[in-house]
Amino acid sequence: MSILIKNIKELVQVEDKPQRMVAGKAMSTIKTISDSWLLIEGNRIKDFGKMPFSEPESWIENSGIEIIDAAGRMVFPSFCDSHTHMLYAGSREIEYIDKIKGLSYEEIARRGGGILNSAKRLHDATEDALVEQTLERLNEIMMLGTGAVEIKSGYGLSVEDELKMLRAIRRLQKLTPLKIVPTFLGAHAVPAGFKGKQHEFVEMVINEMIPQVASEELADYIDVFCDRGFFTVDETDRILNAGMKYGMRAKIHANELDYSGGIQVGVKYNALSVDHLEFTGDQEIECLLGTETMPTVLPGAAFFLEMVYAPVRKMISAGLPVAMASDFNPGSSPSGNMQFILSMACIKYRLLPEEAINAVTINTAYAMGLSEEYGSIARGKIANVFITKPIPTYSFMPYAYGSNKVGQVILNGKQIINQ
Ligand code: NIG
Ligand code: FE
Repeated sequence: MSILIKNIKELVQVEDKPQRMVAGKAMSTIKTISDSWLLIEGNRIKDFGKMPFSEPESWIENSGIEIIDAAGRMVFPSFCDSHTHMLYAGSREIEYIDKIKGLSYEEIARRGGGILNSAKRLHDATEDALVEQTLERLNEIMMLGTGAVEIKSGYGLSVEDELKMLRAIRRLQKLTPLKIVPTFLGAHAVPAGFKGKQHEFVEMVINEMIPQVASEELADYIDVFCDRGFFTVDETDRILNAGMKYGMRAKIHANELDYSGGIQVGVKYNALSVDHLEFTGDQEIECLLGTETMPTVLPGAAFFLEMVYAPVRKMISAGLPVAMASDFNPGSSPSGNMQFILSMACIKYRLLPEEAINAVTINTAYAMGLSEEYGSIARGKIANVFITKPIPTYSFMPYAYGSNKVGQVILNGKQIINQ
């Protein structure tokens, strides 16, 4: 099956020569083609160009191609969301009210709320219930333009419950057209039963969880919440070392609550990404320069928890790439809306629309190890794109925050949604 989208007002984030990621000054450029067409063959992007489409009309009529007239509308590559905890049970709006009353994220965590609250709910939920609840969330982000998403474990905090989460993620991979990348986050918080025995919990992550996750091949990446009050640099070092031995590359939570050394230990292990980064100073920027590690910022969590915003302008000026993901989770960012992340990138981090688009497409694709196949409109890449509703310019996407500007969704070359 092939699809020809014609009369595209503007084809956005086109690459003739695909890049793995975009850094520094180059982030302020995206290639677009106005008045264009896009040809999809099977599940891949075959070709694109300026209107008129060069093949004769008769070829189009006879070849069984589905033709979509996109007059007035634009085509974007689907968003890539490289950091989520979107497999969870229930919700935590009670803590949200505590937060409104003035309690901090760490205070809530100390009172048994936060991650431990989600761990309890997760323990009580069946694998089927987790699949069902997460599928609904996946459908929602699909309608909002996401085409590939990373999902972490981390609300299990026991061998069985971590495996339950990762097995549910594996089932979801077969139930949705979205591309899902699984990450093992055993060291997300110390569970109640290990209070005062953090060392023993770390041993369990290393000696029991990692080998079992690896033996069932349930995760591509390994994460640790390396921050003040959670896991130390030394513990992170040991866990990442163990994970790498089992073929899981690091992709970690770092520098959300303090200058915790998380960025440095991530870089030491050639992490694919270090994420959050509210506390990033000159030393951290220096450490990231010239590495293969994608600095990833999570605007939704900074907004929801009213934290300081990561110094993204400074990072880009220094020549770093920056990716931006949703962090979709019940505690610090209960939204997987990447259009909102795009708006936040511009409003709160002062990125230009072009920089923001790079941050939520090609750079987040890189941060999931997917940029060869996702994250831009390039010949041979997987055909994950969306057609917007009628919009005047691509800058309207971050500008008009809060409304859904996505009209039709095409994933793996198939039209999934027409809203
Ligand atoms: O990325 N920072 C650590 N973990 C999540 C929060 C998870 C939760 O509160 O449930 C985050 O913000
Ligand atoms: Fe997170």
